[in-house]
Amino acid sequence: MTSTTKTLEAIKFDRKEIKLEILDQLLLPYSTTYIPIKSIEDGFQAIKLMQVRGAPAIAIVGAFAVVVDTYIYLQAATSNRPIGELIKSIDYLITSRPTAVNLANALNDMKTLIVETECENVNEKVYRALLHYATALYDDDLANNIKIGYHGYKYISDTLKQQNFKGPFSIITICNTGSLATSGHGTALGIIRSTYQSLSKENSNEEFYLQHVYPCETRPYNQGAKLTTYELDYEQIPFTLICDNMVSSLINSLNSKQVKDQSAPIKFIIVGADRIVKNGDTANKIGTFQLSTIAKYFNSKFTKEEQKIKFIVAAPKTTIDLQTQHGDDIVIEERPSNELTTLTGPVLKQSGDVGEKLTVGIATPGISVWNPAFDVTPHELIDSIVTEDEQVYTKDANGEFHLTK
Ligand code: MRU
Repeated sequence: MTSTTKTLEAIKFDRKEIKLEILDQLLLPYSTTYIPIKSIEDGFQAIKLMQVRGAPAIAIVGAFAVVVDTYIYLQAATSNRPIGELIKSIDYLITSRPTAVNLANALNDMKTLIVETECENVNEKVYRALLHYATALYDDDLANNIKIGYHGYKYISDTLKQQNFKGPFSIITICNTGSLATSGHGTALGIIRSTYQSLSKENSNEEFYLQHVYPCETRPYNQGAKLTTYELDYEQIPFTLICDNMVSSLINSLNSKQVKDQSAPIKFIIVGADRIVKNGDTANKIGTFQLSTIAKYFNSKFTKEEQKIKFIVAAPKTTIDLQTQHGDDIVIEERPSNELTTLTGPVLKQSGDVGEKLTVGIATPGISVWNPAFDVTPHELIDSIVTEDEQVYTKDANGEFHLTK
């Protein structure tokens, strides 16, 4: 189904009919097209091609893909399907994207559930256990994002009060971490949503208010330009798109100069996460690490507390990987070179209509390209890790994170 109606619903799962459809995010922001996912293979392709993306969303789609695969098999079953075969397919699905731990966490949980049924073949009992898990994963993600939003808003509000900050402020974010990357509301963008709801100029009961958001374009896949701007526009939160390489200049002009105008300094950089390891090191979209180093540079120049910029990571606990001690051990996905050397999108006609999809070259053909999809921000550059539970990670005076839950 294709339309121009805007939506923030990335995943549609019909719990009665057991049907899964995902919003094709490769076609956003120009058209709203849902595509059916009917098997583990469909799920694998949609995740790998990034028709669905964002750590929580890919885990949910992966889990639902296992459910529909199992359901469709049971409807048509003419022979036995050993559970070992299903587990093999799930292992294959895990390999679709390696960095975000949510997918592996969810699918490994499902494998454990399958084994715990003690069934030899895929049957109704196995299917019921998988359905229950996947629907709970979706529902919990939504509920947890609302909590992340609230905790993030509280952190922002408390920080500004402690700093005795007054007036308008701005936030920088990268990639897309909103409704489209989750089951709804979002993580980092969820914090921005919740903060804007309580601290917009019109709604704020404090001496400060959120005036503006700056989403980074997020090269090479442009999740910021295509998806975050789509969500901010949808929500009517004031924003201005910037390229990834404009961040230092932006902060310099908004924060550093003694500008006596209405400019609202950047006070927070809020990012999502694909994997947070035991010591707090965080893998997220490529470009996140440099944002943290930029914040550190400016903070070293600022003399007053009220000038400081805080770097916040927002993620559900399903993004935490306690098996990995250190960020160096995170496997970083490398993606194809054409994501850097070409641009694909629809022709925008003068009439305003959207035309044929086109791929154009933007680099010298045949060159060598490095395209890591993520980077790792060292924990010492992170001020706070916000999850659905308060204070999962606490920071000590030496800048070390400790797990408290
Ligand atoms: O490659 P993507 O688009 O899947 O990367 C997504 C990100 O890095 C997000 O910031 C992260 O997954 C958090 S989503 C709530």
